[in-house]
Amino acid sequence: MLPVPRSVTWGAGEFELDAATGLSVGEGLDGVAHWLRGELGPALGCWLSPAGTGRTIALALDPGLPPSGYLLVVTRDGITLLGGDPAGVFHGAQTLRQLLPPASYRRAPVADGPCRVPAVTVRDAPRYRWRGCMLDVARHFMPRADVLRFIDLLAAHKLNVLHLHLTDDQGWRFPVERYPLLTEVGGWRAESMVGSRQHARTDGRPHGGHYTADDIREIVAYAAARFVTVVPEIDLPGHTQAAVAAYPWLAPGHGPVGVRTGWGLSPVGIDLTEETLAFCRDVLDEVCALFPGEYIGIGGDECPPGQPLADRRRFVRALVEHLAGHGRRAYAWDEILEGGAPRGVIVAAWRGPGVTRAAAGAGHDVVACPDLSTYLDYRQSEHPDEPVPVGTVLTVDDVYAFDPAALAPDHPERILGAQCNVWTEHMPGTRAVDYMVFPRLCALAEVVWSAGGRADFRDRLAEHLPRLAAMGVEYRPESGPLPWQRRPDAPGWPRARADRESELDALTRGI
Ligand code: ACM
Repeated sequence: MLPVPRSVTWGAGEFELDAATGLSVGEGLDGVAHWLRGELGPALGCWLSPAGTGRTIALALDPGLPPSGYLLVVTRDGITLLGGDPAGVFHGAQTLRQLLPPASYRRAPVADGPCRVPAVTVRDAPRYRWRGCMLDVARHFMPRADVLRFIDLLAAHKLNVLHLHLTDDQGWRFPVERYPLLTEVGGWRAESMVGSRQHARTDGRPHGGHYTADDIREIVAYAAARFVTVVPEIDLPGHTQAAVAAYPWLAPGHGPVGVRTGWGLSPVGIDLTEETLAFCRDVLDEVCALFPGEYIGIGGDECPPGQPLADRRRFVRALVEHLAGHGRRAYAWDEILEGGAPRGVIVAAWRGPGVTRAAAGAGHDVVACPDLSTYLDYRQSEHPDEPVPVGTVLTVDDVYAFDPAALAPDHPERILGAQCNVWTEHMPGTRAVDYMVFPRLCALAEVVWSAGGRADFRDRLAEHLPRLAAMGVEYRPESGPLPWQRRPDAPGWPRARADRESELDALTRGI
């Protein structure tokens, strides 16, 4: 099983799951039951009718179990799945699925006959409450259907936060009724860079796309049914060239600019004035209207020099207060610590242990996502054939060795959890995202659900890969990229770990 449960005790015999198996559904669990039927019915022909004539799977709540925790008992005669809450039952159902053959992840049956579930007792609960993945749908747009599939993949690994990076210099994907040009103009660019920015190669091909309000509602509801919270991010006040392209009055000094076609930091960002603050408040009002979750991302990272620190602090503070007025908490990259972050902000600590300690020490809740351990755009091996070899080497084992608790040993209670970050400059579509994300996300999932350090992780990962394959995931083979997974036309820019470490040290020394 992956992530590994807290305790597993194997029993004798097997439960036979077949078309006659029934499902008994306790109070408050209709949603989980509906999801389970929707998964196992098509895959196995087991529709889990309430009036099943065979033995049953019983779902129920048990308030004695921890939040998101579960107890799964499989015997020859039946399956009982108890959860501390509906999320716990859902996670237990994901574990039950892992006890079935990989074909249970397909969309139609590929074999006849009953499926056997080995007798077992599993007790389980998560290590962290924030088990996340950030998906950058700004650098390359990810269509709604692929986002829904991605949510299924997160849920299958017991991750529960999808941080959607919805806006950046290279594209604005979030629909704003009051400012339609944000998506009409800011939602596409004339061409894209191919490979790392040092090579200045471009493809001459337009790229774009954006979500409608109904797309967002569907994504949020689909995720909620799988106990995944979507945390939207509107990156402010830096990374805003696409907004300036749509509404040049946001930064008149820059003259007319287009949506950025190259990667790397843009010198263009909105001016920090009362007018642009009102614009940002309007945008966040619409974000709050479509995303019901407690946390709203406001970015705050890598602001251009035209946005001086004092103005930035005032601006960001006003946005944090505005969100508080909506009853929401701001979520921001660790640059928000520069000059002191407002109270109540959750800090995404991406620039190493120093900022993680500083954020936790200053009393902020922290989501650990140090680039050297969790940036899934970084290359997966030293091999030059990796597509596209940027950043430092980050192997599956490197991700598995990541321990969020070690980053802030004096304030473990401040670490809400961790997330991996999928920046998509070099991932033009879902197949490329699959290659970069899997199986490294499996390692992160175990770190945040269970804790790393298990000697059998590699064996369990080997058993898990057929599940990914059954889900249609084009993961990176252990031996490296298949010929069609290489991108010889897109040269990279590999970094050495020591160089990146000293760069991070210099960037964060004052914090
Ligand atoms: C970031 O990588 N700019 C958060």
